[in-house]
Amino acid sequence: MALWGTSSPQPLLLGLLSILLLHPIIGIRLGIVRRPSPDIPVFREAPAFRNGDQCGYKNSDDIHVAMTLDANYLRGTMAAVFSMLQHSTCPENLKFHFLSAHTAPKLFSSIKSTFPYLNFKTYAFDSNRVRGKISRSIRQALDQPMNYARIYLADILPSDMGRVIYLDSDLVVVDDIAKLWGLDMEDKVVAAPEYCQANFTQYFTDAFWSDPDLSKTFQGRNPCYFNTGVMVVDVDKWRKGGYTQKVEEWMALQKRVRLYHLGSLPPFLLVFAGNIKAVDHRWNLHGLGGDNFEGRCRSLHPGPISLLHWSGKGKPWLRLDSRRPCTVDHLWAPYDLYYSSRSFLEE
Ligand SMILES: *[C@@H]1O[C@H](CO)[C@@H](O)[C@H](O)[C@H]1NC(C)=O
Repeated sequence: MALWGTSSPQPLLLGLLSILLLHPIIGIRLGIVRRPSPDIPVFREAPAFRNGDQCGYKNSDDIHVAMTLDANYLRGTMAAVFSMLQHSTCPENLKFHFLSAHTAPKLFSSIKSTFPYLNFKTYAFDSNRVRGKISRSIRQALDQPMNYARIYLADILPSDMGRVIYLDSDLVVVDDIAKLWGLDMEDKVVAAPEYCQANFTQYFTDAFWSDPDLSKTFQGRNPCYFNTGVMVVDVDKWRKGGYTQKVEEWMALQKRVRLYHLGSLPPFLLVFAGNIKAVDHRWNLHGLGGDNFEGRCRSLHPGPISLLHWSGKGKPWLRLDSRRPCTVDHLWAPYDLYYSSRSFLEE
């Protein structure tokens, strides 16, 4: 078990009291926190999380997690990492792989100062690789090159890495990520929760379905929607099967014929839908950000939850800051490491 948790109310209360009592020197306390850059928020330092007695320390015990780093989502990334460390039995076995649009020393040093004990590597993702291949979707945020970085994971990550968990930055994990890591992928390249009750037709245009060749794409499979924000990827099989190129080919076609309206999801569906390893739905309770247009509040589905995902337009940190949060946003707040003197004094 991790040695530290946010569940105990006493330290928090004491912390608040000491801040209020020490009010005259609050300037000194805040002065210690260096502001790396005006456009990068400042975060509290997370404590060290230590492995439980039952944990191994071999390379084969490592759990590899890949995420993208982007100044706009940094607060989400920090919360996601924090949540995983808190709920891991073997937090020291977590190895993070951060992809960013260019070598972003400020983002990297922000991770380092927030998680001084974190085991992580950083990678530059050349967004030029994808820029010319992106066609406009229904929501501008979906068209950011970093959204497409997940397609290139197998090429970017070290070639001796066989498996990786890819995670979006707008989520928190509330269970031991080792359970997701350890699943049997059978012969599949991608594992993710599948949603076969969702209307699959609507993800593609009439132009797609009415073309006799294109509409044959899913022949012999039972294609179902899956969310690409939480995936276990066998990067070894991905490389051998040349899947980067397969996804890119659909993106190139989309530039000429409009086959779908969303961003990076549909080309994934075209290549993998109906051929993935289905994971329990508890591992991606998605859509908490609402729809793509208005971001209206959503409530939780009944059943066990291991991962909460604010996919959709609304993001919990923005809604909490706006003082009009959705109820589900309060489930994200405990993992927020954003350092704000205002929230310290008002909460
Ligand atoms: C699924 O969506 C398509 C396209 O939006 C629609 O024409 C069809 O009626 C829907 N099917 C069901 C079962 O709702």
